[in-house]
Amino acid sequence: MRENAHVVQSTEDHHHQRHHNPITSLNSKLAKTWATTKVFIFVLFIMFLSASVSWMYTSVLGENRFQVTSIFIRNTNRTPTTTTTKTITDIPKIIIKIPLNCTSLNSTTTQTCPSNYPTKFEPAISSSETCPDYFRWIHRDLKVWQKTGITRETLEKARPNAHFRVVIKSGRLYVHQYEKAFQTRDVFTIWGILQLLRMYPGQIPDLELLFLCHDRPAIWKRNFKKNSKDTWPPPPLFHYCGHRDAYDIVFPDWSFWGWPELNIKEWNKLSVALKEGNKRVKWEDRVPSAYWKGNPHVSPIRGDLMRCNFSDKYDPMVRLYVQDWRSEIEAGFRGSNLEDQCTHRYKIYIEGNAWSVSEKYILSCDSMTLLVKPEYYDFFIRSMVPMKHFWPIRPNNKCSDLKFAVEWGNNNTEKAQIIGRQGSGYMMKNLEMKYVYDYMLYVLQGYGKLMKLDVTVPVNATEVCSETMACPITDGGLIRQCMDDSLVMAPSVKAACDMPPPYRDYELKKLLKKQVSAERKVEKWTDEYWNLRGPK
Ligand SMILES: *[C@@H]1O[C@H](CO)[C@@H](O)[C@H](O)[C@H]1NC(C)=O
Ligand SMILES: *[C@@H]1O[C@H](CO)[C@@H](O)[C@H](O)[C@H]1NC(C)=O
Ligand SMILES: *[C@@H]1O[C@H](CO)[C@@H](O)[C@H](O)[C@H]1NC(C)=O
Ligand SMILES: *[C@@H]1O[C@H](CO)[C@@H](O)[C@H](O)[C@H]1NC(C)=O
Ligand SMILES: *[C@@H]1O[C@H](CO)[C@@H](O)[C@H](O)[C@H]1NC(C)=O
Repeated sequence: MRENAHVVQSTEDHHHQRHHNPITSLNSKLAKTWATTKVFIFVLFIMFLSASVSWMYTSVLGENRFQVTSIFIRNTNRTPTTTTTKTITDIPKIIIKIPLNCTSLNSTTTQTCPSNYPTKFEPAISSSETCPDYFRWIHRDLKVWQKTGITRETLEKARPNAHFRVVIKSGRLYVHQYEKAFQTRDVFTIWGILQLLRMYPGQIPDLELLFLCHDRPAIWKRNFKKNSKDTWPPPPLFHYCGHRDAYDIVFPDWSFWGWPELNIKEWNKLSVALKEGNKRVKWEDRVPSAYWKGNPHVSPIRGDLMRCNFSDKYDPMVRLYVQDWRSEIEAGFRGSNLEDQCTHRYKIYIEGNAWSVSEKYILSCDSMTLLVKPEYYDFFIRSMVPMKHFWPIRPNNKCSDLKFAVEWGNNNTEKAQIIGRQGSGYMMKNLEMKYVYDYMLYVLQGYGKLMKLDVTVPVNATEVCSETMACPITDGGLIRQCMDDSLVMAPSVKAACDMPPPYRDYELKKLLKKQVSAERKVEKWTDEYWNLRGPK
């Protein structure tokens, strides 16, 4: 059992988790508590040398993307960049480096937020590329408030559903937490927004937002009607997934910065590992069947999937395994390395209680994904196309659809490989961490424009920064490691990608038509095949 990919959609019914989350509050009081137990003194004045500026750069992926590998010192006396050459290969002369500035903590001191965070930074490389297509949905997600804007009254209606409020004012971030979220979902969601602020100083407008950390959306369209003054416009609520019948604003989930409880690394590191993992077993040498491993108990549709475990001894086409996270945790996750997942030619994605975090890990493997048509969507799936990026499976016809897909793939290995590669290519390219930040940037910028209220820091809110979150955690555990790994060390030298225009209605129709017609084609093949063979 080497694979896992199929990270369980963790849900509230997942409370058997043994791992206790040390961060129970984002309050800075926390710092004190930790300091009492740890007498570990940070001397983290890393390389704060004065004026001398040294740097180097590497071009990665051969795509003219720059990655700063070291070290730029905060330096306000910017020397003007030479203006003679203006190519994309121009190297920025000054970069600010912002390592964690942890104070030495003891029982009487608390970690504070540095006052000298850069408030503005002009990216040296202006963008010359358009963002991936899935950015075009941002307009759609925010459209419902276009006419009215978001007033205080509108916003506050979302509060009963929110786990926390984030206030961004002058580039600083304040949190008022209402309810603790499951595991570290809230912690890493806030951490992610903090990293965005480090990446694009001065580019996030003042705003207040409310965030829901549960699995399912909460702002259902049926409860908010345009012709009713009381309920219109609907309350804006940020959430990890959307639904065609909901108004929740889709935002990247916490796992991009790590899911320490399940030993899942932050996305930057993990996506590289997954890419390497794809090379481990050649496609032809992979087990010629479909694979899924996960928790079948989180939703009826997953329970139903278990029926498809074909018991044909000699050639089981669909292999399903129940993931028991408790024993995985006890075994130190030896059996669930995501980068070892790519050993079958086909793998199944099926949503859990709502969208599943596992989706990006499953699609990243370059085996062909058999995607049981989901109801809930995360921010990147909406522009993916069946038969280009994955093979569509009907939720109400799972078993025979899966079996047919596997047989088809084994008869058409070239084509199946192409679909697998295109799906994983989409993930590797369009879901680079830089794009995830760019997506967040545009959502927040678009959202900020809608603010028709005085952005105020609530009395009980606490200023939060990377320092107050990370510095007090000195137990050498995974939470801190995920934070260190995903820490944005410098403002981006490259500007955000160019926002594509909104989908026009006819373009959206075209996209949907393309998706539907691909699904129909597969359905037709499948049905013809099974009719020929008689019903299963
Ligand atoms: C805690 O640190 C502060 C400042 O670093 C120092 O002034 C104080 O004496 C320390 N207190 C204890 C109990 O060590
Ligand atoms: C770290 O933060 C403290 C407190 O805000 C500040 O006085 C100090 O200058 C900072 N150190 C660096 C190297 O920026
Ligand atoms: C599915 O079948 C495989 C192989 O026969 C078996 O090992 C596995 O436990 C079965 N899974 C379920 C959920 O019954
Ligand atoms: C796969 O090929 C075999 C042998 O040619 C054939 O009997 C079977 O119907 C094919 N299955 C599909 C799904 O194309
Ligand atoms: C702030 O916290 C205090 C004490 O916990 C509480 O009494 C008060 O109602 C809170 N104020 C707001 C605006 O939430």
